[in-house]
Amino acid sequence: MSATYELLLQGGTVVNQDGAGIRDIGISKGRIAAIGQLGSAKAAQTLDLKGLHVLPGVIDTQVHFREPGLEHKEDLASGSRAAVMGGVVGVFEMPNTKPLTTSAETLAAKVKAARNRMFCDFAFYVGGTRDNIADIPKLERLEGSAGIKVFMGSSTGDLLVDDEEHLDRIIGTISRRAAFHAEDEARLKARMHIRRKGDPTSHPEWRDPEAAMLATTQLVRLAEKHRRRVHVLHLSTAEEVIYLKDHKAWASVEVTPHHLTLVGPECYQRLGTFAQMNPPVRDERARAALWAGIADGTVDVLGSDHAPHTAEEKHHTYPDSHSGMTGVQTLVPTMLDHVAKGRLSLSRFVDLTSAGPARLFGLEGKGRIAAGYDADLTIVDLKRTETITNSWIQSKSQWTPYDGVKIQGWPVGTVVRGAMAMWQGQLAASATGVPIRFHEAQ
Ligand code: DOR
Repeated sequence: MSATYELLLQGGTVVNQDGAGIRDIGISKGRIAAIGQLGSAKAAQTLDLKGLHVLPGVIDTQVHFREPGLEHKEDLASGSRAAVMGGVVGVFEMPNTKPLTTSAETLAAKVKAARNRMFCDFAFYVGGTRDNIADIPKLERLEGSAGIKVFMGSSTGDLLVDDEEHLDRIIGTISRRAAFHAEDEARLKARMHIRRKGDPTSHPEWRDPEAAMLATTQLVRLAEKHRRRVHVLHLSTAEEVIYLKDHKAWASVEVTPHHLTLVGPECYQRLGTFAQMNPPVRDERARAALWAGIADGTVDVLGSDHAPHTAEEKHHTYPDSHSGMTGVQTLVPTMLDHVAKGRLSLSRFVDLTSAGPARLFGLEGKGRIAAGYDADLTIVDLKRTETITNSWIQSKSQWTPYDGVKIQGWPVGTVVRGAMAMWQGQLAASATGVPIRFHEAQ
């Protein structure tokens, strides 16, 4: 008797731990039931994927969806619509909301608000502060918790731990991998005069490579002392790549598509304050070093650092303009364009966006196209050329630094636990996201 599946994906080129080859995928109860030549199988729904590539679902391990409190920029529904339109099946969301996500109550409120409203699966970082260190063991293990996130230098919002004593206590307390925004607050404060009114090219001069290096080396020193896992978010400097290459035992590394794609001073001349983010997009030397870190494996994951602000907030005169750019919807297309241009392989892209997150964060049943795993898939057309436009952007803030940029490679389908969250640019009728589960949490 032939097998019966709920969804049968036929004839796509599946890219997974087995290499790349034309295979069918049979999906039942939200999981991958079979991979291979499944021509004789029956299915409630069959999709012909000839000519398309099927990748393990892309997980974006750094987004800011702004709910609660900053919903004029984004909310959990709009941010997750942007995610699935861009081929992203799951996100780790950041705690610099209003109120801050720093307690069991604020985390539970986010999880509750996300159910039935988010189109992709989700986890929420809990902000580490001077006041919640004793709660960390509990906060790390709650349902929907992505673990602890610490701002070592101030950025958008009020989260900050900038003294060695409390950082040391936090790192000594964590048991899961914790994520860090590594810029040295004392140096940022001391150099504020370097900012030139109306001139965003002074942004990377103010928040210089030394500010990033000071914080990253302090962080890694404390991680090695306590033998705890730390995750350095949005790496931006050549110096950090060189340093982290020799300090990989306890430190994992994220880079953003922005730091790999944009380059100063050109991006500031072209985009003005719309290119402003923390840590800043830097020069060609920094960008080349990040690509070298992708090539040699120093970099573990890509995160978009989707950090929406309204066009009005971005238009303020520097330095009153807000730091951050949208990115969750453009992660896949911009990186596939880099694949098309030969800067990274498709298998390395998969490693950075699914196997990487699964390896670093211990995801339950995600990050791999294999029997028994969640049927999370990003279906892409590697040949398709498109021009990214602001009108395609689902984020409430409705702009992208890539407006008008022509690229090759496009997400055409987003499958979240067996359900089509997006197919050929059409969004699913209902939002079915659930909390991502971790081996080290509930
Ligand atoms: O540019 C940034 N924007 N960097 C951050 O670390 C925070 C983010 C935001 O939340 O706006």
